[in-house]
Amino acid sequence: MNKQLSQDAQDLPRLLALTLHAATDYLATIDTRPPATDFVAEEPLELPEAGTGAEATLDLFLARYGAAMPASNGPRFWGFVTGGATPAALMGDWLTSTYDLNLSSAANSIAPNIEMEAIHLLHKLFDLPAAFSGVFVTGATMANVAGLALGREWVGRQQGVSIAEAGLSAAPRIAVIGGAAHSSIHKALAMLGLGRASYHCAATLPGDREAVDLLDLRRRLDALAGAPCIVVANAGTVNTVDFDDLQAIAALKETYPFWLHVDAAFGAFAACAPAYRHLVAGMEQADSLTIDAHKWLNTPYDAAMVFTRHRELQYAVFQNNAAYLGEIREPIDFVHLAPENSRRLRALPVWFTLLAYGRSGYQAIVEQNCAQAQRFAGRVAASADFVLLAPVRMNVVCFTLAGRPGAAAVAAYLARLRDNGSVFLTPTLLHGAPAIRAAFSNWRTTDADLEIAWTALQASLTA
Ligand SMILES: Cc1ncc(COP(=O)(O)O)c(C=O)c1O
Repeated sequence: MNKQLSQDAQDLPRLLALTLHAATDYLATIDTRPPATDFVAEEPLELPEAGTGAEATLDLFLARYGAAMPASNGPRFWGFVTGGATPAALMGDWLTSTYDLNLSSAANSIAPNIEMEAIHLLHKLFDLPAAFSGVFVTGATMANVAGLALGREWVGRQQGVSIAEAGLSAAPRIAVIGGAAHSSIHKALAMLGLGRASYHCAATLPGDREAVDLLDLRRRLDALAGAPCIVVANAGTVNTVDFDDLQAIAALKETYPFWLHVDAAFGAFAACAPAYRHLVAGMEQADSLTIDAHKWLNTPYDAAMVFTRHRELQYAVFQNNAAYLGEIREPIDFVHLAPENSRRLRALPVWFTLLAYGRSGYQAIVEQNCAQAQRFAGRVAASADFVLLAPVRMNVVCFTLAGRPGAAAVAAYLARLRDNGSVFLTPTLLHGAPAIRAAFSNWRTTDADLEIAWTALQASLTA
């Protein structure tokens, strides 16, 4: 064995203690570190002929990058929809790397049971039908890819073709219809060979709504003259957290043949709080459903789930028959149900956090973040410096600068705000107009953070 490696192996408990120190040092400063920093290109390091060992490498990392690591899992990273890691989730994640299990097969470990148990807990959290088969993937983008891959197979089979076996060229072109879909839906269509052009974008409701206009959706379904297709419904748009009427869309299945994929990456968490639960009524009628864990569940990157009520299609699309993997048996190994073959035990942080904080813990996080969004929006609406662009439906505030400047001015403002070091917000376009989003999804965010952020927002108004 390499000498350095053998020394590190003997010294592992001390090395892990040093790593624990580095982690706790970082976490102790999470409230005061800038949540985001601009990218600075560094000259890449040379690969050493003989390594320096783990301790010196940790020292090098801390000297080179430690101080610059932003607190993107801290309380004032309000860009995208980013959760932090709850303490229990972080513990589970550390152990995931420690066990370093490949979750593909039940023939060699107990790990699939942990994933099944985590999925069962998630069923309860989101009140999903027991018939939903669930599996962990890397993020909502991959969950959308997997859900749409199942939809693709379903549509093919309605026309007598297994696309998983015969390929897309054996089936008629597949139409995908939806309203203000997340960009990852378009990416998924590109990856799946359906093509971005297969997306038929239905109108959204008038005014400040981003939910799909059901009349236009129907019109587009009528135009397909009975051809089976995929409908993508949004349960939480990124700009204003608007929800399609999932119940009404699901009811259309009585008239039109379509696969219903619901992207509820973070909107699914409406199910955790009584005041918001109605927004996801009908979610349980999806054929496939995307929910992220690394957003509002506050588990570390990268983890999401795809659920489906069609496990037989899941198996048809993702099966990975190989003699060296052994017999296929019930319960079907995850290797045959997920896009990835080898997978880390990303269910463990979810298992930890759900058991540690329970249903009421997640209700409290969702309610706290939504209340913070409301308070922040109140400030925005009352200020002469900003314009609130949409009502706050859950946890995202969409607003812009007074005078409604163009995209360049908004970008310059957001760069100044980021460099101020107190809060991080991201830009967007709302109905074509440059806008700013503040997304609240971190368990750490407090009312004091709203004050700190507000001061920074005002200080950054002038260059
Ligand atoms: C509604 C929705 N779908 C999909 C995604 C993609 O998520 P991920 O970055 O986890 O792949 C996002 C991310 O913000 C989202 O908000």
